[in-house]
Amino acid sequence: MLEHSKWLSSGKPAACPCFIRAFAVAPDLCRAVLTITAAGVYDARINGRPVTDFFLAPGWTSYLYRHQVQEYDVTHLLDTHNQLEVTVGSGWFNGEIARTRRPKDTPVLLLAQLDLYHADGHVEHIYTDEQWLSAESPVRMADIYQGETCDTNFRDTAPVPAVAFDYPKTQLIPQEGEQITLQEQLKPVRIFTTPAGDTVADFGQEITGIVRVELDAPADTVITLQCAEVLDADGNFYTANYRSAKSTMELHCSGPTCWQPRLTYYGFRYLRITGWPGSVDPDALTAIVVHSEMTRTGRLSCGVPKLNRLFENVVWGQKGNFVDVPTDCPQRDERLGWTGDAQVFINTACYLFDTKKFYTKWLGDLMADQRSTGAVPSVIPDVFHGPKNIRIKSSTAWGDAATVCPWQLYRHYGDLDLLRTHFGTMKRWVDYMTSITTTPYLWTGYQTLTDRVFNPEHYGDWLGLDAPEGSYTGSSRKDLIASAFYAYSTELVIRAGHALHEDVSDYETLYENIVAAFRAAYDGDYRTQTEHVLALHFHLTADPEATAAGLAQLIRDNGDRLTTGFVGTPYLLYALSDNGYPDLAYSLLLQEQFPSWLFSVNQGATTIWEHWDGQKADGSFWSPDMNSFNHYAYGSVAGWVFETAAGITPCEELPGFARIRVVPRPDARLGWLDVSLETAFGTVVSRWFCENGRVRYEITVPVASEIVIDGKVREVPAGSYVFWGSVPKAR
Ligand code: BGC
Repeated sequence: MLEHSKWLSSGKPAACPCFIRAFAVAPDLCRAVLTITAAGVYDARINGRPVTDFFLAPGWTSYLYRHQVQEYDVTHLLDTHNQLEVTVGSGWFNGEIARTRRPKDTPVLLLAQLDLYHADGHVEHIYTDEQWLSAESPVRMADIYQGETCDTNFRDTAPVPAVAFDYPKTQLIPQEGEQITLQEQLKPVRIFTTPAGDTVADFGQEITGIVRVELDAPADTVITLQCAEVLDADGNFYTANYRSAKSTMELHCSGPTCWQPRLTYYGFRYLRITGWPGSVDPDALTAIVVHSEMTRTGRLSCGVPKLNRLFENVVWGQKGNFVDVPTDCPQRDERLGWTGDAQVFINTACYLFDTKKFYTKWLGDLMADQRSTGAVPSVIPDVFHGPKNIRIKSSTAWGDAATVCPWQLYRHYGDLDLLRTHFGTMKRWVDYMTSITTTPYLWTGYQTLTDRVFNPEHYGDWLGLDAPEGSYTGSSRKDLIASAFYAYSTELVIRAGHALHEDVSDYETLYENIVAAFRAAYDGDYRTQTEHVLALHFHLTADPEATAAGLAQLIRDNGDRLTTGFVGTPYLLYALSDNGYPDLAYSLLLQEQFPSWLFSVNQGATTIWEHWDGQKADGSFWSPDMNSFNHYAYGSVAGWVFETAAGITPCEELPGFARIRVVPRPDARLGWLDVSLETAFGTVVSRWFCENGRVRYEITVPVASEIVIDGKVREVPAGSYVFWGSVPKAR
């Protein structure tokens, strides 16, 4: 691919160089195709018009091993005389986000080829080479974390030849993922002055995106827009939780101006505006949402407005963290493909949107970054380490993305080939745990290992509320969590092996041994909510009834409130509802006191928070350090609403919703629930209404399915059905 083109670097110092090629075309031109990529992110225009809607192309992959190339039909943009101009910013390639993966001494680069097809059959090729010019662009600075500075009046009047740069091409691959594109637009809901005297615009919704600025500016105007997610207790602009990310838009302009950043993105609800000439006209500012293309598939609403707001927050959390890679957050100096967060949320993500292509590309990077030992980096693309011959240690529940993500994609989309592609990765991850433990059939002793590069140890029940003072890690035992996930991942390898008709007898034996060892080590001694949850949800406890009763007791003793972190929370409601306590699961869902999902809603959240008390009732913050207000992990609760409250699940024997189970579990406190899901086979609907002590169910299935109402199993052909049932009694 692109074998005749040369990687080009700028011939003069430039933060975001513009590469220029003028060319003429003969009148018999019938088609023109641009094949292009950059080491960095590019904005390509022909005669001033964008060649694509793809924002921040070529996207983010594990560039050492996989670097996407795009192809665009640009025929409609051509004239007799043409100018192709490509501005390249550092992006994920060598901006600050690239950390140690930042290729030292490699500047931003462009690689392209333009093919001009003529009516007489001959094809002209324009390759990137020393005939191209390079210039400084009006973009004076661009960085994913720091933002973008643009001088709209800047013109480089002295372009110089671009320089060929020696950089490999063997890692080039065709575009695999979804394109990142500009989405809906929002206007400020208010512009106000804070007590500290700052002028602030509030868009009413936390988003991930950019801002368009339109004004007629006096000469030498310099406007700065800085991002924030929340205001502090006094109503002042608050940026400490962005840590080192400046997240700023700086615009130098004179005269009529319409500008928006082209080489970075932001996570924000509020903007602090400085340097604006006169008072700020709300019409002058437009927030533009940015995320990867994905079709909405799942919808959910119920009779409790606050829960509907929570569901919306989950959707916004997904949009905001689906910028080519499933990220932890879109605003502070992370925005990384944290594997733990991804495996926690993938089930919910697959219900809400069609994410198959999005995750397939990311799993390609996970596979590329997995070590020969089987270790899986904590973030994919792995920016914490250098090339993959560097030994790393993996954290439990993070590395398990290697098994959980392919398995969830298989459940949701039924693609056996995709599962086969990742089967080796899944097995290697389990083998890694087998090889690294100090106790056979458990995963122990990790902390004592000395070959650490980045991760000191397991992250544990990250941000669990039972954390000791000053710690981010909940008090569930790390060896127990690690051993539970060892069992779970082994179980997933077995299930995948069965689907693929592979011999997994060794893993079946391993699994039995892990369960036996787990019981010998821990059964009957679960100490935290999360420990109970894992023992129940991963089917490890020998006495589910007693373990469920223990979990229920802990929750009730805590005033019907949770203490779980990243590891326990995703399975908490399942562990309750699958083991006889659905009413308690609903109580947690409906809980409004801290800690709870609705606490953040009552605090005005418009996305899902990283921490249960990101902002406390008095407006103070739990920490400036680990306090994102757009972290999708706890949004995984929406998966439970699809799968348990509405009861829609794919059947494992016919995955991808070729056969569906619908087992709704109503609760009168919601009044009604209306959930729908677009599948490859048609729309599934599960609705229930609690009316006068009875429940009316309206269920539509697009394929032959199993519907279970009040414990009664019905095999039904595709169609719409109404059933009546009784309101379940609280235990
Ligand atoms: C991230 C998390 C991530 C964690 C690992 C944090 O800084 O934001 O979401 O999973 O580190 O413990």
